[in-house]
Amino acid sequence: MKIIRTANYEDMSQKAAQLMIDKIRQQPDMTLGLATGSTPKGVYAELIKDHNKNGTSYKKITTINLDEYIGLTPSDHNSYRHFMNSELFDHLDILAENTHLPNGAAEDMFKECERYEQLIKDLVDIDLQLLGIGRNGHIGFNEPGTSFKSRTHVVDLAESTRKANARFFNFIEDVPAQAITMGIASILDSREIILLASGSAKAEAIKQLIYGETNEKFPASALKLHPNVTIIADEEALSLVN
Ligand code: F6R
Repeated sequence: MKIIRTANYEDMSQKAAQLMIDKIRQQPDMTLGLATGSTPKGVYAELIKDHNKNGTSYKKITTINLDEYIGLTPSDHNSYRHFMNSELFDHLDILAENTHLPNGAAEDMFKECERYEQLIKDLVDIDLQLLGIGRNGHIGFNEPGTSFKSRTHVVDLAESTRKANARFFNFIEDVPAQAITMGIASILDSREIILLASGSAKAEAIKQLIYGETNEKFPASALKLHPNVTIIADEEALSLVN
């Protein structure tokens, strides 16, 4: 795993965005795997800035997101579809039909998992997957104990994850109890992975990722099995790493 140490959140966002922009310019029809949450917001703002200033085009880009809450419709302002539209897609020239998230309101979740996994196959895999990391080492919504062989599946969210995400909701009871997420094997099929981390709250997780064992108790450790992973993290997130 390659580590890029950045001064702060802004620097992390700019460096990650620049890497992505360079790749998009080289391969304008690439498939990008995207994440939600607080961490990638700055990267998305940089991509929008560059699109407006330098005209980098997303007309031929396809995106596929990691996860979605179950029970929220795409128009719900807490859904990840809403997040992606408002934080990124609405500000680019990307075609709406080329942006994909799991449907958290699907009637049959088993079929929805199959559809999503088939979609990844039809896209002939993800060229570049962007990831955040949970404090307990989750990637996507793959909580500790998830099999490294897992494909898109339904998960019960850990209480700690619901608490961490409660900041976006009015009440913790409003945070859905389940989500649909790409599995760890689905993520590892990506050709290249960039994992972002910012702030001291992520320092323990980054320390464990770098120095700890490769073990299903710590989902992000699966990334050590992948040949092309770059961690882009700021000083605070890397404060326990020499
Ligand atoms: C989001 C996702 C999650 C987040 C993680 C960190 O699509 O898959 O794994 O990346 O929970 O979230 P933040 O960035 O809010 O700290």
